[in-house]
Amino acid sequence: MAKIKRIGILTAGGDSPGLNAAIRGVGKTALGYHMEILGFRDGFRGLVEDRRLKLDKTALAGILTVGGTILGTSRDKPHRMLIDGRTRDMTEVIVKNYHKYGLECLVCLGGGGTQKSALRLHQAGLNIITLPKTIDNDVAMTDATFGFATALDIATEAIDRLHSTAHSHHRIIIAEIMGNNAGWLTLGAGIAGGADVILIPEIPYRVEKVAEAIRRRSRRGTNFSIVAVAEGAMSVDDARAFAAAEAKRERARTLHDKKEAKVELAALEARHTGNTLRLARQLEELTHLESRVTILGYVQRGGTPSPADRLLATRLGGACADLINQGVFGVMVAARGDRTEPVPLEKVAGKRRTVPPDHSWVATARHVGTCLGD
Ligand code: F6P
Repeated sequence: MAKIKRIGILTAGGDSPGLNAAIRGVGKTALGYHMEILGFRDGFRGLVEDRRLKLDKTALAGILTVGGTILGTSRDKPHRMLIDGRTRDMTEVIVKNYHKYGLECLVCLGGGGTQKSALRLHQAGLNIITLPKTIDNDVAMTDATFGFATALDIATEAIDRLHSTAHSHHRIIIAEIMGNNAGWLTLGAGIAGGADVILIPEIPYRVEKVAEAIRRRSRRGTNFSIVAVAEGAMSVDDARAFAAAEAKRERARTLHDKKEAKVELAALEARHTGNTLRLARQLEELTHLESRVTILGYVQRGGTPSPADRLLATRLGGACADLINQGVFGVMVAARGDRTEPVPLEKVAGKRRTVPPDHSWVATARHVGTCLGD
């Protein structure tokens, strides 16, 4: 097989710590194979609008510990991109530019949405390889995604700090943690931070159960509690309403029914945004303890990657360039224990890895008496 001479690389979706470590891992290994690397800015848009830059030794120097992504990112999708005010399918433009720039492979660093976009480009005939990136840890077919370990450290440290103020004021402090519709980050940080209550999307909760757990602590003389709640967590009733609306959307055949189901889901999503504040008010009423909310938000995605993420990102990046050199494409480089494994994009795209209710972390939380709201 002819040696690969030139590859492209881009970062797409929400940013995360470790992206630059991964870019560096791919880049330095590829340079070792005498490949030329073109970086494309701001996700897939960079391939449409010719936002490219050469990634040589100098460009890759000193980025291992830098947060965010030197390439910039976006949530633009190749098949639905806003161009001059209109949403257009830019797949063909990307394919044309891929060949115009003389690329022989495109490396896409991203989460679930990026894996789907990458599969589309693979199906359009491009040589694609992806790496699993997200603080949510919800990409299918990999043991871990880079970004998760750093966010876990950040969220855990936040919970540690919230303990002292909750204790001082005899309060319920609720920390809202990211994770989209997966509970890995909240469950992991909740256990590591010793939260008294952990609420995740995969286990819909009953507020009364949470209040009873907090009242039980008060009766034992501990009149403060820490609640770690995932941004996607919801009550049993809300989960039921979402499930019914999603089933209605799946069943919808006519335009009218599709529109109606879409409107219903949007209303539920809009109502969900205030969920954590509503939960705080409900717990205050039910326990007569003051409650306060801290939304960790984008702090969880910022700053230098942890050593664990630097190691994981560099491992995946190096393995990616190895696979390119072997002519292996159409795969995601998955973490498998202390190894890596190429997994066909068809097995990854469109799937989300959520917390199985019988997962060992769930059992661990229950072992130490954590209330999971059920
Ligand atoms: O997917 C990573 C993530 O941080 C999620 O945890 C969060 O729900 C989402 O991105 C926020 O998206 P955006 O950065 O577009 O506001």
